[in-house]
Amino acid sequence: MNQAARAAEAFERLHGRSPAGVWSAPGRVNLIGEHTDYNDGFVLPFAIPHRTAVAASPRDDDTIKVSTLHDRGRAETADPVRISDLAPGTISGWPAYPSGVAWVLRQQGISAGADLVIAGDVPAGAGLSSSHSLECATALALLGLAGSTQSTSDIAKWIQQAENDFVGAPTGLLDQTASLNCTEAHVLFLDVRSGEAEQVPFDASRHGLEVLVIDTRASHSHTESGYGARRRGCEQAAEILGIPALRDVSLDELDGSLAKLPEELRPLVKHVVTENDRVLQTVALLKQDKYAEIGPLLSASHASLRDDYRVSCDELDVAAEAAEAAGALGARMIGGGFGGSAIALVRGDARAEVEAAVTEAFAKRSFTAPRMFTGVPSAGAGQDR
Ligand code: GLA
Repeated sequence: MNQAARAAEAFERLHGRSPAGVWSAPGRVNLIGEHTDYNDGFVLPFAIPHRTAVAASPRDDDTIKVSTLHDRGRAETADPVRISDLAPGTISGWPAYPSGVAWVLRQQGISAGADLVIAGDVPAGAGLSSSHSLECATALALLGLAGSTQSTSDIAKWIQQAENDFVGAPTGLLDQTASLNCTEAHVLFLDVRSGEAEQVPFDASRHGLEVLVIDTRASHSHTESGYGARRRGCEQAAEILGIPALRDVSLDELDGSLAKLPEELRPLVKHVVTENDRVLQTVALLKQDKYAEIGPLLSASHASLRDDYRVSCDELDVAAEAAEAAGALGARMIGGGFGGSAIALVRGDARAEVEAAVTEAFAKRSFTAPRMFTGVPSAGAGQDR
């Protein structure tokens, strides 16, 4: 049963009536372009088949009541809250995500009282944007109930506000834009500064390749991790350089710019500038059908995130190294880092070997066994019923 059907069924069980509608949104993999979004740069995500669905019906008492479906059908319901009582810091844990969306929509004048029932299969804490998929599905549900149609770029910005100000995670625009806008069989080439997005065909299997997603099951949290510190470092560097964002440093200007910066900020800038360039190179190669050649760019991205940006961790490094040693054409950590997932570009006939090698490398170090699946570019968010 898909997530929309699970959410609808649970809604009926909990509320004794059918929901007015069901909306769902996927998690994402970012092929390349990490920690570039809040620097006004380039990203290249695709949606994964895993989704979060929200079954919803309106309420007329300015209240949201949210339930979530756990394994084996057990539902957990958060205390109902009046939307006018919502304020940053008032809600913690998973209910903070749907509540933050209701809070931000209220600020836009969109009335959003609702009963919501959530079902999803995006692995939580795996760097695959489970929280953003929940926020996107919630936003579409509440907007749908209110009969309000908004551009996906507005919705993405509101979700960012909910994340930054309500949940307290200083994240950028990558995840929600991917979840809202990605399409099947494409990567989304997004210029975060201009908001311009291009769907670039991405069919690895036609080239005998697969994007193997490796969930290391090492946990991460953007509210507690060094994510905010990296972001502040980038903003500080841009200020010293007298530019709006690090996006404005070209590869040619990199050395000159680095010379103007205090030593501790240099590696951050080096990563962002070279990573933006790697996104552009990747897009160019994909358009020329040179899929295998993106492998070294993925690996260079990982090295830069590990050595310069310093957001990797042992599990991610071991996953990338073991995959490459077993024949992957390239591998990298994805998402914010400090845990979560990595991806490896592998030839279809080498996949089993790569999987076995990663599993063995984890066992050897007594890490929790990783989970792996093929990342197939899937549909973005929408209404299911
Ligand atoms: C997290 C954030 C995104 C982005 C990535 C790193 O996923 O939510 O906005 O910054 O980290 O690229």
